[in-house]
Amino acid sequence: MASNQMWGGRFAGGPAEIMQAFTPSIDFDRRMAAEDIKGSCAHARMLVQEGIIPAEDADAILKGLAEIATEIAEGRFVFKRELEDIHLNIESRLTELIGPAAGRLHTARSRNDQVATDFRLWVRGACGRSEDALITLMRALHEKAAGNIDTVMPGFTHMQAAQPISFAHHLLAYVEMFSRDVLRFRDAAKRMNECPLGAAALAGTPYAIDREFTARQLGFDKPMRNSLDAVSARDFALEYLAAATIAATHLSKLAGEIVQWCSPGFGFVTLSDAFSTGSSIMPQKRNPDAAELARGKAGRVLGDFTALAAVVKGLVLAYGSDLQEDKERVFDAADTLELTLAVMAGMIRDMTPNKEKMRAAASAGFPTATDLADWLVQTLKKPFREAHHIAGAIVKCAEDRHCDLEHVPLADMQAIEPAITEAVYKVLGLDASLAARMSYGGTAPNRIKEQIAFWRDKLR
Ligand code: ARG
Repeated sequence: MASNQMWGGRFAGGPAEIMQAFTPSIDFDRRMAAEDIKGSCAHARMLVQEGIIPAEDADAILKGLAEIATEIAEGRFVFKRELEDIHLNIESRLTELIGPAAGRLHTARSRNDQVATDFRLWVRGACGRSEDALITLMRALHEKAAGNIDTVMPGFTHMQAAQPISFAHHLLAYVEMFSRDVLRFRDAAKRMNECPLGAAALAGTPYAIDREFTARQLGFDKPMRNSLDAVSARDFALEYLAAATIAATHLSKLAGEIVQWCSPGFGFVTLSDAFSTGSSIMPQKRNPDAAELARGKAGRVLGDFTALAAVVKGLVLAYGSDLQEDKERVFDAADTLELTLAVMAGMIRDMTPNKEKMRAAASAGFPTATDLADWLVQTLKKPFREAHHIAGAIVKCAEDRHCDLEHVPLADMQAIEPAITEAVYKVLGLDASLAARMSYGGTAPNRIKEQIAFWRDKLR
């Protein structure tokens, strides 16, 4: 095989056949074509401005790059594995289009700072897309919450019904989680917004380049201060993956709850046909496949994070081809996260709560026993421990009578604690229990209305 047309000057022979299957990154880094062209345009403009390349060559380069961008957009561009990666594919095509002037583009840069720049641009874009998709999901959750302030469900601790809560309160807890995910992506995008271009291979370049200019052209806040760091740093990609992993775990929790809520034992919600699937053998089945997949995707995204962390761990400065392993992990995580967020938003929008089932489940298991104890503290001035004990005895009495707390006769309560009066009944209902939890952040409808208003304003 002939030596490589882009870098083969000192080679007599070409690479082994099997290297074609091993070294190229074009099959995946073609996704950074737009970023690569943007970076090259900025670089060419800088080179001509600083008098490093002639104006007519820069013009030809910019025109050629625009033509290539069109070819790629229209699917006419022929990607070649023998040209390894997106950088060499584009440069080679540029040579075909404009001739030797194309050879001036790679002055004062290397593929090392080029790929670092392209990838930062791509990941910065991915941060923005994740943020948008998260906000879409938050809007869906918020809207569902706004319509369900008075929908009562059991709140669980240890997976045991603990106290009644509002379904809206439960959904808004996820809005809070996803809002922190938004901030994580925003924060990561801000920190990664420094430009590696001009670091060249690793040590900088003897040409009088203007790194401030290229940084500005590409929307970066500033050029990176250290050329070794610029070509080798991938913590920006790890930060993206870490944020994606945390967001995926939140999605996984929500999806897991939906799977439970849909099961006949719960029956708290019904998913639309659009987000359910059937079984190939059991005609009666209606499976929450999409929610289960969403639950499972967290493992995959965490795997992407772990894989890249393992690649960069212990890697010496500056560039090593190990770093070519960075992109597929990030692309996979980004595709997975964006798709899962969109699916979950659609599923939530379509989801119907079964209010009676939720209320029935909330009233089972004496969920207002804490309210009873609190009444004994507030009205009879009992110490909480003693109140807890009395309430426990009344729960036992209700259990023996097979009734709920509201239906234990006053005489039976008074046999346990003589000072109890008729007034106790008004705290034993589900709605009273909810309304009583008006501490800041609590599930009382008035507090939920505050949360709804807060997020309506934020999500506008
Ligand atoms: N395809 C490479 C990557 O994805 C581009 C940089 C290659 N640089 C080099 N000196 N081989 O990282």
